[in-house]
Amino acid sequence: MSIIRTFAAAAAVATVLSGIGATQAADDPAAVVEYRKNVMGILGGSISGVFALLEGKVSWSQHMVNHAVALDKAAKMVLDVFPEGSTTPESRAKPEIWTNWATFEAAGKALQMAAADLVVAAEGGDMAAISAAAGKVGDACGGCHKPFRTPKE
Ligand code: HEC
Repeated sequence: MSIIRTFAAAAAVATVLSGIGATQAADDPAAVVEYRKNVMGILGGSISGVFALLEGKVSWSQHMVNHAVALDKAAKMVLDVFPEGSTTPESRAKPEIWTNWATFEAAGKALQMAAADLVVAAEGGDMAAISAAAGKVGDACGGCHKPFRTPKE
């Protein structure tokens, strides 16, 4: 009896989850753009935290791993938050993202790899290694912004 109940519950969860997947594609572009900017904001805040610690502006060196992990988690969301057609006048996302998706995807994956390396370096605690890994993360940000984000007016 309890096994049947477990299966029924699992099936209910699966139904709800597939429902979520289905509605995601139709999310309102304005909501997507706002959400995406918040994901980018996590990346910006996290890398700023890493550099503030590296430069000794603040002394909470025990936060280094937290920032690296936050950046790593956010990097894994980046490719999700650019569904086709999610542009609004408030967005700086270039249309080339969707006409050149393979290149955009590669830029997103490059960030994921750089962020994973930063986590390893942060856990190791060697400041020179963290600095090198953080520089590569910065390169990965620029490697996508340059081709795929319209410059500020
Ligand atoms: C795969 C591409 C890609 C990568 C990698 C990427 N970004 Fe972005 N980022 C974008 C695009 C495109 C926009 C413009 C989004 C929009 O306006 O809809 C953006 C916008 C931003 C913004 C502005 C958000 C706002 O409020 O308008 C910040 C800050 C930002 N990114 C930080 C970062 C940082 C820091 C990194 C690296 C750790 C990074 N991004 C990596 C594509 C990327």
